[in-house]
Amino acid sequence: MFDEKQRLKNIIELGQEITQVKDIDILLERILAVARRFVNADAGSIYVKENDRLRFISAQNDTLKKRLAPGKKLIYSSFTIPVDMSSIAGYVAYTGEMLAITDVYDLPKGLPYSFNKEYDRVSDYHTQSMLTVPLKLTRRGIIGVMQLINAKDDSGNVYSFLKEDEPFITHFAGSAALAVEHAAMTRDMILRMIKMAELRDPKETGPHVNRVAAYSVEIYETWAARRGMPADEMERNKDVLRMAAMLHDVGKVAISDAILKKPAKLDPDEIIVMRQHTYLGSRLFSEHYSEFDEASSIVAMNHHEKWDGTGYPGYIDAATGRPLPGYELKDGGARGKKAEETPPFGRVVAIADVYDALSCRRVYKEPWGEDRVLETLKSDSGKHFDPEMIDAFFASLDTIRSVAKRYPENE
Ligand code: C2E
Ligand code: SIN
Ligand code: SIN
Ligand code: FE
Ligand code: FE
Repeated sequence: MFDEKQRLKNIIELGQEITQVKDIDILLERILAVARRFVNADAGSIYVKENDRLRFISAQNDTLKKRLAPGKKLIYSSFTIPVDMSSIAGYVAYTGEMLAITDVYDLPKGLPYSFNKEYDRVSDYHTQSMLTVPLKLTRRGIIGVMQLINAKDDSGNVYSFLKEDEPFITHFAGSAALAVEHAAMTRDMILRMIKMAELRDPKETGPHVNRVAAYSVEIYETWAARRGMPADEMERNKDVLRMAAMLHDVGKVAISDAILKKPAKLDPDEIIVMRQHTYLGSRLFSEHYSEFDEASSIVAMNHHEKWDGTGYPGYIDAATGRPLPGYELKDGGARGKKAEETPPFGRVVAIADVYDALSCRRVYKEPWGEDRVLETLKSDSGKHFDPEMIDAFFASLDTIRSVAKRYPENE
C-alpha cells in the first residue's frame, strides 16, 4: 500500500526543511502545514506551552478556508487551556503520549478528557478523527502540542489516522520541537537585544516590534501572492522579512534619549539626528553574513523612503551618511528613492510602521482612532506608500486587526 522507505525519506527531508526556518511564527505555521500534508489532515492546530498552560497559537482548516473569498485567511483568537487531563490537548501535554481518536463525538465512557464542542459550534465545522501529538524535548520536556484533525481520502471522506503513520509523525514532531525551541531562542534574543539597547522606551516595547513585523508579513504575503510569487520563494521571503522587520528601528540605539524620548515635537536639528537611525541601523548588518543580515540592512535603510521620492535617507553612503555622487541636494541631503527604487521590504515595513505608530500612543502623540489611521494610509497611497501594497494592506485588514490583538501593549 505505502512505500515505507519513500515515506521515511520524505519525513526526514521535511524535518530538515523546517529546521531552515528561523522565525517562530512562520515555523509553527510550516510545521502544521507539513504534518497535515503528510497525513492528509483537513485541519489542525498548534498549542505552545506557557508555564502550566497551553496557548492556542495557530490553526489551519482547508474546509473553512474554502468558504472564504479567495486570498482571505481564517481569523482565530488566541486562548489558553490548562495542562491537565480535562481536554484532549491538555491530556497529551500532561502525559506526553500521542493520542489517536477515531471519532471525538463518540469517546468511550470513563475517559478523563472530553472533546470541547464549542470550537466546532463557533466555526460550523465537524471534527471527527484526531491525532494529537506532543512536541517534546529530551531535556525540557513538553513544549507544545500539535493536533491534526480529520484525515481525508481523495473523495473527501474522513477516516481514522493510520497507525502506520504514527512513527513518522513522532519522528517529525521531534525535529519540529527542536526547531521550535531554536526559533523561540532566536526571537527572545532579538527582543532582548532591542531591550538592552534601550530602544525600549516605556511606551514602545517588544509588542510594537512584533506587531510591525507581523503586519509586514501579512501585507507582503497578500502583495506577493497577487504578483504570482511561487510558494517556496514566498515562504523563504516571509521568514527573512519577519526578522528584518523586527529590527527596523534598531539604529535608534545610537540616538540620545533627549531626542528619542522627547515628549514633544522634534525641532529641525533634532529631526536631522533622528533620521540617522536608518543608516546607523543598516550599518550594524553591513557585513551581510546571511540573507537575514542583508534583509535587516535593507529594511533599516529603506523603511522611511516614500513612494513619491520625498522620504529619507535617500541615495547615501551608509558608511558616511553622505549623499552618493550625483544625488546631492542643495540642502545637503540626498535625493530620496522613488517608487520601486525602494526595495519591496522597505516599502512594506513603511506601511506597517506608520500604521502601528499612528494607532498607538507614543511619547510625542496620542493614539489615533482607526478611521483616521485608515484614511491617512489611503490618502497617502501613491504619495508616501506603494499603492499596490496599500491595496494589499486593506485586503488583509481583518488579519492585521487580529495580529494587533495577539501583541497587546501591556504584555
Ligand atoms: P515611530 O514613532 O516609529 O514613527 C514611525 C513613522 O510613523 C514616522 O516616521 C511617521 O512617518 C509616522 N508617524 C508617527 N507619528 C505620526 C503622526 O503623529 N502624524 C503623522 N502624519 N505620521 C506619524 P518619522 O516621522 O520619520 O519619524 C521617525 C521616528 O522619529 C519616529 O518613529 C519617532 O521615534 C521619532 N519621532 C518622529 N517625530 C517625533 C516627535 O515629534 N517627537 C519625538 N520624541 N520623536 C519623534
Ligand atoms: C482539546 O484538545 O480538547 C481542545 C481543543 C478542541 O476542542 O479541539
Ligand atoms: C521599539 O519599540 O523598540 C522601537 C521603537 C519604534 O519603532 O518606535
Ligand atoms: Fe524608523
Ligand atoms: Fe518604528
